[in-house]
Amino acid sequence: MDSTFLTSAREMSKNSAQFARIVAVFTAEVLVVVLLGVGVLPASCNSEGDTLHLFRMGLKDPANVLQSWDPTLVNPCTWFHVTCNEKQAVTRIDLGNSHLAGPLIPELGTLKHLQFLELYGNNLSGRIPPELGNLENLISLDLYNNQFSGSIPGSLGDLKSLRFLRLNNNRLTGRIPRSLTGISKLKVIDISSNDLCGTIPMSGSFEHIPVKSFENNSRLNGPELLGSVSYTLGCA
Ligand SMILES: *[C@@H]1O[C@H](CO)[C@@H](O)[C@H](O)[C@H]1NC(C)=O
Ligand SMILES: *[C@@H]1O[C@H](CO)[C@@H](O)[C@H](O)[C@H]1NC(C)=O
Repeated sequence: MDSTFLTSAREMSKNSAQFARIVAVFTAEVLVVVLLGVGVLPASCNSEGDTLHLFRMGLKDPANVLQSWDPTLVNPCTWFHVTCNEKQAVTRIDLGNSHLAGPLIPELGTLKHLQFLELYGNNLSGRIPPELGNLENLISLDLYNNQFSGSIPGSLGDLKSLRFLRLNNNRLTGRIPRSLTGISKLKVIDISSNDLCGTIPMSGSFEHIPVKSFENNSRLNGPELLGSVSYTLGCA
């Protein structure tokens, strides 16, 4: 065979391999751009805004206090009743006395930088999601004066930054989780006016909590005298 033909054939196959590589890279780039465009990949993700929007979708808001919660904005930091830190992470939700009704959602436990969750004085109902125990920076959990039912999640004992825990005037049942006595920074706890049972723990951070914080729970006995009264007394 002609040697110039061989050389040019080899040249051609090298070129076509190169061409194929270029096409492959180009296709991959186009694919990434397209995926970003349709939002399959998180380009500038707004997961905290999505979480708060999901919470809003489950609520009745007759006073329109959540009107500014627009999920199409880059983040929720300009929404009313939401505060962010300098890194645009949500640190406060202030929705006390806002006539809101409906449930909390487990996804609220993903707001890692949240320090203040102020939801007192509404008509919020359902259970307190155990996932709130994931809020490691939470300083204040104010859910008092609502319609919450079910038991107090033991996972709230994981809230190592918590100083204020006010769950009073709801419809909470069951025992007071012992895990709460391990929150060393706890300054104020109020779980009065619920339907709690069992005894009042008096150890750990509960040592200096006044009895007033537990009153008006008709099935609650205490303060706990270690060993002499069953922890589950009154819990049928
Ligand atoms: C709770 O709901 C009831 C009945 O819908 C209403 O009368 C009451 O004003 C609401 N309370 C608050 C604090 O929004
Ligand atoms: C006691 O708690 C119940 C509900 O748990 C509430 O309706 C009532 O107002 C409370 N009473 C006082 C004196 O706080």
